[in-house]
Amino acid sequence: MKYKSQKVAYWFFGLCMLLLTLQIIYGFIMGFARIGFDGLHDFIPFNTARAVHTNLLVVWLLTGFMGAAYYIIPEEAQRELVSVKLAYVQLISLALVGVAAVVGYHFNHWEGRKFLEIPRELDYLVVVNVLLFLGLILATLFKGKQKTTTAMVLTMGLVFAALLYIPGMIWFDSQVMDSFFRWWVVHLWVEGVWELIMGGILSFLLIKLTGVDREVIEKWLYVIVGLTFLSGLLGTGHHYYFIGVNKIWLVVGGIFSALEPLAFLAMALFAVNMYRKGEKSHPNKIALYWTIGASIVSFIGAGLLGFAHTLPQTNLYTHGTLVTAMHGHLAFWGAYAMIVLAIISYALPNLTGRKRYDSSHGRMAFWLSNIGMIGMTVAFGVAGVAQVYLERKMKMDFMDVQNEISIHFVVLVICATMFTVGISLFIYDFIKYGKPSDEALEEKSNNVLSGKRINNIPTAKAAYSEETN
Ligand code: HEM
Ligand code: HEM
Ligand SMILES: [Fe+2]
Repeated sequence: MKYKSQKVAYWFFGLCMLLLTLQIIYGFIMGFARIGFDGLHDFIPFNTARAVHTNLLVVWLLTGFMGAAYYIIPEEAQRELVSVKLAYVQLISLALVGVAAVVGYHFNHWEGRKFLEIPRELDYLVVVNVLLFLGLILATLFKGKQKTTTAMVLTMGLVFAALLYIPGMIWFDSQVMDSFFRWWVVHLWVEGVWELIMGGILSFLLIKLTGVDREVIEKWLYVIVGLTFLSGLLGTGHHYYFIGVNKIWLVVGGIFSALEPLAFLAMALFAVNMYRKGEKSHPNKIALYWTIGASIVSFIGAGLLGFAHTLPQTNLYTHGTLVTAMHGHLAFWGAYAMIVLAIISYALPNLTGRKRYDSSHGRMAFWLSNIGMIGMTVAFGVAGVAQVYLERKMKMDFMDVQNEISIHFVVLVICATMFTVGISLFIYDFIKYGKPSDEALEEKSNNVLSGKRINNIPTAKAAYSEETN
């Protein structure tokens, strides 16, 4: 079944595309500044560009998760959203807080706590906004006809993500305390509860795209949730090695964070296996690319490249260098950006009624952005290793090292250009789909099954050929 209120999701996805575009612009400002083209320095110094780049990333991903929830929860709970009007109020207020924060960064230097630079006054507005969002989602879920594991895991992830925002709002005079609790937000988000959000979206997409039984898919989801909590909670210790807390964290952080890749490995195996098992030839291949792609690239970016610097023996040298940026880019891209682009790719044809499943733009968008991002990761990696060697082994001055490695940023900008062409094609496709329509959602309601095995192949095929004719 499809529900008219799922339309709300479209506008969240639209805001997502807008904020992603802005994020990329600030990425280029930094990339060029690193090569020496820093003409914007007086207006947008590097630290401002960095804060805007990373905060926009967090905001567009959260916007995407919210869109995903507004799309998925009605379908899973089998009822309309409790209030469409309030969902739009939430969307607009989210956009306003986002704009205020971004504009503000250019005039004030507010916080300086990486990723959480939003000033605490605006934090309160964020809290109200998120409470409204969660209220709508929870009310819809609990008034709904069914509470699926997929919907519960997604919602649990969203609720915990909101709760974990609170430790980041407390004021500490001690740098150590401040750092200690900052990681409760930053680490426990990306290596904890956001993984539940990712797992929930992944599970929904696999049910729809592969036609494998819901029971089978949701069993895997339990395993992923289990592995995430087992490793991710105490894994926080990999940020406590040298910040002034008890030495026990060297051992705890080392051991548990070394286990974290298992959850990402499980997700990759999960997605690939379900794809192999699935018999349903869903026409939306592009959505399938992004879905399987997210599970694999997240394992490489988060699992493997995270592991590369997670033991105290290596982290002692790599901490806070471009090695971190290398991992940060591919991990965020693979796990969270790609899963958001996957749900958008899946939802668009259903929301707009235009079944342009297999455009060559769509495929190009996937390959160019992924190859571009892998190139960027390599550029950051090479720069990072050179930086570690020169700065931490050879004891060269920080700024001299930055000069030495600037050539790698030329490579970065070239790869980033390829990445950006890919994203531009994705956004071009997004716009080409046109606006969502009530008819599309009504028409859909009789040919989508909620995860039962595959007797709708003929319908899906019919819908497909009807469109191509
Ligand atoms: C999708 C999941 C992940 C994302 C999005 C992610 C992203 C990031 C980002 C952005 C940073 C820099 C944070 C900061 O300095 O404020 C970071 C740091 C770090 N990450 Fe991850 N990460 C993920 C998973 C992992 C995993 C699974 C591991 C370990 C196996 C790991 C190991 C590390 C370590 C050790 C650092 C600290 C680097 C340093 O000392 O500078 N990450 N991560
Ligand atoms: C075309 C695009 C992009 C360019 C040129 C770019 C460039 C950069 C640069 C130069 C930095 C600062 C590194 C430093 O401290 O010197 C940075 C930071 C960062 N960017 Fe990007 N970026 C781009 C796109 C993205 C995308 C799409 C993502 C996420 C999916 C992302 C995630 C991050 C993160 C997480 C950091 C902080 C890393 C850390 O904490 O060390 N960037 N970016
Ligand atoms: Fe972490």
